[in-house]
Amino acid sequence: MKPLQRIQSLEDYQRVYDYSVSDPEAFWAEIAQSFVWQKPFTQVLQWDFDGPNVRWFEDGVLNITENCLDRHLPQKGNQTAIVFEPNRPEEDARSFTYAELHQAVMNFAQVLLNQGVKKGDRVCVYMGMVPELAIAVLACARIGAIHSVVFGGFSAQSISDRLIDANAHFVITQDGAFRGNKVIPLKSVIDEALLQCDFVQKVIVLTHTKTSISMLKDRDVWWEVEIEKVGQAHVAPAPMNAEDPLFILYTSGSTGKPKGVVHTCGGYMVWANYTFEQVFQYQEGELHFCTADIGWITGHSYIVYGPLLAGAKTLMFEGIPTFPDHGRFWDIVEKHKVNILYTAPTAIRSLMGFGTDVFQGKDLSSLRVLGTVGEPINEEAWHWYHVNVGKSRCPIVDTWWQTETGGIMISNLAGVTPDRPAWATLPLPGIQPILVDEHGNENHEINPETGFVHGNLCVKFPWPGMLRTTYGDHSRCYTNYFATYKNLYFTGDGAYRDAAGNYRITGRVDDVLNVSGHRIGTAEVENAINRHLGVVESAVVGYPHDIKGQAIYAFVVCSDHTHESEMIRRDINETITKLIGAIAKADKIQIVKGLPKTRSGKIMRRILRKIAEGELDHLGDTSTLLDPSVVDEICTERL
Ligand code: WTA
Repeated sequence: MKPLQRIQSLEDYQRVYDYSVSDPEAFWAEIAQSFVWQKPFTQVLQWDFDGPNVRWFEDGVLNITENCLDRHLPQKGNQTAIVFEPNRPEEDARSFTYAELHQAVMNFAQVLLNQGVKKGDRVCVYMGMVPELAIAVLACARIGAIHSVVFGGFSAQSISDRLIDANAHFVITQDGAFRGNKVIPLKSVIDEALLQCDFVQKVIVLTHTKTSISMLKDRDVWWEVEIEKVGQAHVAPAPMNAEDPLFILYTSGSTGKPKGVVHTCGGYMVWANYTFEQVFQYQEGELHFCTADIGWITGHSYIVYGPLLAGAKTLMFEGIPTFPDHGRFWDIVEKHKVNILYTAPTAIRSLMGFGTDVFQGKDLSSLRVLGTVGEPINEEAWHWYHVNVGKSRCPIVDTWWQTETGGIMISNLAGVTPDRPAWATLPLPGIQPILVDEHGNENHEINPETGFVHGNLCVKFPWPGMLRTTYGDHSRCYTNYFATYKNLYFTGDGAYRDAAGNYRITGRVDDVLNVSGHRIGTAEVENAINRHLGVVESAVVGYPHDIKGQAIYAFVVCSDHTHESEMIRRDINETITKLIGAIAKADKIQIVKGLPKTRSGKIMRRILRKIAEGELDHLGDTSTLLDPSVVDEICTERL
């Protein structure tokens, strides 16, 4: 079986998987050759995880937009590429054919060139979910500029941290974004961020909400005005080496500030396309609806790049699942005849709470495949999704992956390999997972009671879509992902594996939280809290939450108690919102006299985690603590 062919059965999968592992270079070379290369590659892979130093198709030259757009024009010029569903259902949906999108991307690429953007420059994109966001991203890629999309929910401070880290001289934004009943004032957040970033030369502003905004002379320009000037531009796809960076996407780790994960042009392209087609088994003419925001990796790979590379129809939704009511997703499915719906467990759980009346009279028969991503899906949510949305006839792909992996790593293939509630199941071809203990030794032994092996999930061989570095600090990439276990990429997740090789992801084993599918580092939240006036120190842990999956519990030591704790709590959350964004607000803030520490001063998070989870009888040994009495106090006053 040729690697390029669609896998159509479990036996196919097994054959293809074996080939991908026994001769990875031949396997990936064959797949990569199906793309348009301006200069074909002759080298397939060089790698070591000690640098790390991973290079795929290194001497090849290509442009990803040529593969997303130009190559489809002869066959699909007049077919739909992007369908846009606006925030308010009564507004008209818009769509772009491949030919229109191609032209729009070239026009905006010309605008970028006119504003002085050059190949290799970093461009920060801070927009809502409008088609121009996809156009902006693709226009950067067209001219070889490195896009760094920042989710519209991040604060001014987070944006300026990212602008500084990436040394980005250009920003693309819009006056405001619609989200349900709210207008998010994007441009004014950018203005605040730029007070600290005078190196930013140009800000391109799209008019969307018609909110009043300030426009600075010589720095800010209007999208529409600049587009008007370029007419029908022709911008050739810039020649990019396969290993040139395509984009930076910031994500949280267990320490310090978010890191800029770097993905490259060639490998990411191959991986995004391959995983999209194999996992969702996309069929010609179908409409794919991924509900993520392009500010996260899921939107990059499965709203923009994966579908467009495959010549598919992709739907962009501006709004939220509960506006104007909680039936919005199902209205969209019915209205546009969505075939593939890819969403997050947190969205499913929040919609579950509204019951099933909402499905009455809704025609969801166009759906063929359902998908989930971002966090472990509990069985109850899986079944609800399966029965009420998929009418028990659509396979659910449970796709495990990360910002760093570029695309889906472990998942069943829709309708081809079996699905199983709460199990991501099998690794994709080319992915060689391994479970290790805390010393890095492989765990083989199946526990006879459970039938599973458990361990920390690592990957032992490179794949084309893996991160290459963390922007501006290669050693951080090594420390974060490759230093824990020699010669392994460490995911930060724990997992079970059964005898048939299926994986079930149990969640993070490091200090990273997953709140409503958003990755948040506990250290980041602590740093924000510690900057609040009167806070001496803090410790942040996660606890299980019915809808969010995990919620944030902060234990905070304050220097004085002159204010009531309710007010302190509110103000601490205000500081978190200002420094990170509302997504990182703590659900519970307990003001405590002291934190449980070892004699060497280390905070015992293990104990705090147990307290937050309500497992007061399982705190473990507290006798080694400097002052065991703080634990009693914290337990008594637990929120
Ligand atoms: C978690 C999102 C269980 C996991 C694409 C991972 C999942 C983190 C799943 C990455 C899944 C993602 N089952 N857990 N299907 N998908 N995760 O970088 O903990 O935002 O490490 O990428 O989400 O989050 P990120």
